[in-house]
Amino acid sequence: MSFSRASVRDAEVAGRRVLVRVDFNVPLDGGRVSDDTRIRAALPTIELLRDRGASVVLVSHLGRPKGKVVPELSMLPVGERLSELLDGVLVRQAPAVVGEDVETMAGGLGAGDVLLLENVRFEPGETEDDPALAESLARLADIYVNDAFGAAHRAHASTAGVAGHLPAFAGLLLEREVTELTRVVESPQRPLLVVLGGAKVSDKVGVIDRFLEVADEILIGGAMCFSFFRAQGIATGNSLVEEEGVTLAAEALERAANSSCELRLPVDLVLGESFDAATEVRESDGVEVPDGWMGLDIGPRSAAVYAGAIASAGTVLWNGPMGAFELAPFAAGTRAVAEAVAAAPGTTVVGGGDSVAALQQFGLADKVDWLSTGGGASLELLEGKKLPGVEALTDA
Ligand code: 3PG
Repeated sequence: MSFSRASVRDAEVAGRRVLVRVDFNVPLDGGRVSDDTRIRAALPTIELLRDRGASVVLVSHLGRPKGKVVPELSMLPVGERLSELLDGVLVRQAPAVVGEDVETMAGGLGAGDVLLLENVRFEPGETEDDPALAESLARLADIYVNDAFGAAHRAHASTAGVAGHLPAFAGLLLEREVTELTRVVESPQRPLLVVLGGAKVSDKVGVIDRFLEVADEILIGGAMCFSFFRAQGIATGNSLVEEEGVTLAAEALERAANSSCELRLPVDLVLGESFDAATEVRESDGVEVPDGWMGLDIGPRSAAVYAGAIASAGTVLWNGPMGAFELAPFAAGTRAVAEAVAAAPGTTVVGGGDSVAALQQFGLADKVDWLSTGGGASLELLEGKKLPGVEALTDA
């Protein structure tokens, strides 16, 4: 499938005001941006618009303030970081999301100027896709661009509603994300290998279902493997088991038995007495977990098998860590997968905040072909769901 929405590349933007929805939902630490990956990812669209003589009005959410002004979730630190990343370009910061003052500020922008609105979720109408808020946002600009791939699964006023009021284009990041992730499902180099980890089967069951139909192999790691083991009647000790996930895992195992895709689980584990870097640790050459112990990483045999499969895949999609990689004794499985993905000769696509954080922790983030900025959005796209933020855009 080629991307079927109008692209910002083809928009006539010179001398026009462009409202750009970005996903600047970034982690903050002590009032500063602690990971600016998402801000960097939006720079190409912002730079393209400035280079072409547009004035740029940026809008994003930050956290979940639930329609109230929460000062700790102000966009101010984000604007400061953006200004640094734009080599000191002044980023004007609006005192609110919409309203007369903001319209006056937007009206005063010249070619190349940048205005960042306040956190759009300070407005109660945002998450309800309130038409009045969508209209107020549209009054700030002549053209709308959605580059917020990470929020494209939300049908909110700034991601969907506003697109009904202005010519609506896809930003460069959103376009690339949809293209790269769609290619994994629709036209991958084979064999297609999917590595899934993380805590909950319920988060990933849609992706498992989809890839049981299209992938050659699915490898499971992370705490979600304990829902599978429980479904197989294997003792899980004190491991984290998502109860709701046990039935889902049983169903997935049944579907896998009738599918040409192989679903593989770890064959050994690293156990700890508690979720703590200083805890007692032991390797288990099997997957039974005794009482008093919890599985916190895949074991070395599993890691070697997974790394070997990654090395011989035509396409690798990785989403979710193999264990508690933030604790040093339980990082080896995730590290082995990260290193194998980084070295893989096939096409590599990584999604989900935790796998991206793991790659960053191991200094391998620049070694994969596509690092998705979307968490929920990338999973929903991979599941085959339509994303409201993409659907709302003008057809190409
Ligand atoms: C994300 O961080 O995945 C996106 O910014 C969406 O945030 P949300 O889950 O609060 O809508």
